[in-house]
Amino acid sequence: MTNLPERDFKNPRAEHGFKGRTCSIAAVGSYVPSKVLTNADLEKMVDTTDDWITSRTGIKARRIAAADEFTSDMATKAAQLALERAQLEASQIDLIIVATITPDMPFPSTACLVQQKLGAYRAAAFDIEAACSGFIFALEIGQQFIMSRTYDTILVIGAEKLSSIINWKDRNTCVLFGDGAGAAILQNRPDSHGLLTACMGSDGNKADLLCLPGGGCRMPPTPDSLAAGNHYLRMDGKETFKNAVNAMCSAATEALRRCEVDITQIKCIIPHQANLRIIDAVSDRLGAKPEQRFINLDRYGNTSAASVAIALDEAVQAGRIQRGDLVLLVVFGAGLTWGAAVIEW
Ligand SMILES: CC(C)(COP(=O)(O)OP(=O)(O)OC[C@H]1O[C@@H](n2cnc3c(N)ncnc32)[C@H](O)[C@@H]1OP(=O)(O)O)[C@@H](O)C(=O)NCCC(=O)NCCS
Repeated sequence: MTNLPERDFKNPRAEHGFKGRTCSIAAVGSYVPSKVLTNADLEKMVDTTDDWITSRTGIKARRIAAADEFTSDMATKAAQLALERAQLEASQIDLIIVATITPDMPFPSTACLVQQKLGAYRAAAFDIEAACSGFIFALEIGQQFIMSRTYDTILVIGAEKLSSIINWKDRNTCVLFGDGAGAAILQNRPDSHGLLTACMGSDGNKADLLCLPGGGCRMPPTPDSLAAGNHYLRMDGKETFKNAVNAMCSAATEALRRCEVDITQIKCIIPHQANLRIIDAVSDRLGAKPEQRFINLDRYGNTSAASVAIALDEAVQAGRIQRGDLVLLVVFGAGLTWGAAVIEW
């Protein structure tokens, strides 16, 4: 039984036979490594300037994990904070989903390593890979398990050590990315509509725009492939930019349409933190006001799957999101992949 207040928008989940069940974010947490790499530091490493990076991207600094600090370590710290805030024990987690493109190793999954570090012995655990869109994809997967009553408490994490796949001699890419992790705990909360909708999209025709060609079965690590730099991230920046703006706009528009919410009703927009110019273009097209957006890319750069997860946590801790507020998450990444989610907090 629920005692949901009447709203002037429909909950698409309720309409599809999920009455009495919602998927809410019970708590969030995040972690970023302590080492700060500023634009001034990068000026000493490659042919770039603070002015170029700031004006083209909005990024001023990013965090870099220690040599012995891995994606699972950052994910675990973000998760521990979320668990503490939700007043839950690790043993209460039913499922752990980690979204990452920088797993500790190809297998076992980073989620299993996080499970071990947390002591979440009851949980099933697996990774998903949707690049920078991973956190929303993981939220949507988690929601399906909550709505179907398969699980009650799900830990969703976006975590990356992108510094491990960056060519630190390539100025086109090394200025853009950083490390970190964000976590959310999903639960059925009868007094909230929770996650109203999440939509996802992909276009494998544009896989080449942003990729890491080496390390898989197509190009295993050999001395030749290592020497050719095939184990570093590659990107066509201009094309990626255009696709990001278009895909984020259509994903956000579709998510808002599905729950009959107008952009003016959104209290806080959490966009993927890749480039301030992408965020500006997307919010302009959506008709959003600058004060509706939450931005932290100046401090962290693009942390891929961790990006919106960290930003969501920081927005909540900063008081930008209060109980009952409508929040719009919108992401874009390699694949190509994209997605958007509307949440009643
Ligand atoms: C990468 C990006 C910032 C480049 O900005 P841009 O305005 O498109 O810049 P351009 O590609 O036109 O490059 C302009 C020039 O700056 C140079 N340049 C690139 N990186 C530079 C750097 N760090 N410092 C100084 N100059 C740089 C280029 O070599 C180019 O020089 P050229 O004209 O002599 O060839 C931008 O394309 C971008 O953000 N793309 C999307 C990236 C993204 O979001 N990726 C992740 C998606 S999840």
